[in-house]
Amino acid sequence: MSKKIGILTSGGDCPGLNAAIRGVAKTAMMKYGMEVIGISSGFKGLIDKEYITLDESALSGILTMGGTILGTSREKPFKKNKSLFFKEPDKPQIIKESYSELGLDCLVCIGGNGTIKTASMLASEGLNVLALPKTIDNDVWGTDQTFGFDSAVSICTDAIDRLHTTGNSHKRIMVIEVMGHNAGWIALHSGIAGGGDVILVPEIQYDEKIIAKYIKDRYSKGKTYSIVVVAEGIEKSEKLSAGRHIAQCIEEYTGIETRETVLGYIQRGGTPTSMDRVLATSYGGYAADLIDRGRFGRMVALIDNQITSVPLEDVAGKLKVITPEHYLLERARNLGVCFGDR
Ligand code: F6P
Repeated sequence: MSKKIGILTSGGDCPGLNAAIRGVAKTAMMKYGMEVIGISSGFKGLIDKEYITLDESALSGILTMGGTILGTSREKPFKKNKSLFFKEPDKPQIIKESYSELGLDCLVCIGGNGTIKTASMLASEGLNVLALPKTIDNDVWGTDQTFGFDSAVSICTDAIDRLHTTGNSHKRIMVIEVMGHNAGWIALHSGIAGGGDVILVPEIQYDEKIIAKYIKDRYSKGKTYSIVVVAEGIEKSEKLSAGRHIAQCIEEYTGIETRETVLGYIQRGGTPTSMDRVLATSYGGYAADLIDRGRFGRMVALIDNQITSVPLEDVAGKLKVITPEHYLLERARNLGVCFGDR
């Protein structure tokens, strides 16, 4: 009997989701003759019982599309509602019922850290589950890269390139805030690719006075504009965005005109880069292979340039952050980039 699988996308969207859906579904159908169901809006679709059939026509033309044809949500079925007045339904139980009503042999969950945690909990409740790591933040433990990251870095790099010309014309300091609440991977990579002078990431404690001195030193050497790349998750005052906060501090300490740009959701939208298309397609195809071999409870991963998989329980609840010894920090420091700490 042929196998039946369900696919969902959950958490914040990112470029490459459709390539991953297509990679899983086409391999599952064409190589293994499986039946594929798309679940709408992440885990919410299993609670509300909203599904679509993923046949060849549903998959046609989606490789290059941003977003997700299945929709997404940040539904966390295991999170308890603390309200005394609202009795929540037993969502994990409903999900298990939906899984067996659909007759699934495996649920493929495409998502970031929150999704992987939920997937791991569903696996311990007895469901056959696989996860594919996606997020622009690249902060999933157990894989060298998530898909979505390369696209976001290229969008941020393009934005930084544009800030160079306007910053240079006006002799201003240009601050750009990029995404990354807990990990500064986007800031680090786009900062290096875009030639940022200062890069601030949540993993490195910065001192405003060190940044101001660094920028004033640049001015005294005749460098009349500077680019400051800031991850949204750096420590800052409550009321301001990270970019605004840093721009205000710099202007106050240096007396040099400073402007900030908050890139926001532009980083998550639009068509995936070729790198993300290839990575997402490879992750998807590998997931279908794992289903065929009956290997469940795993996250597909890229390790040392090889597509492989790791146990979900090894990944769930962990975060991949920039470590002090990461090679790119040293590379950047050797070029004179300031991380605000020395
Ligand atoms: O997808 C990850 C991420 O982009 C974070 O960097 C960002 O802070 C967060 O999602 C915000 O997303 P939302 O507003 O959709 O919750």
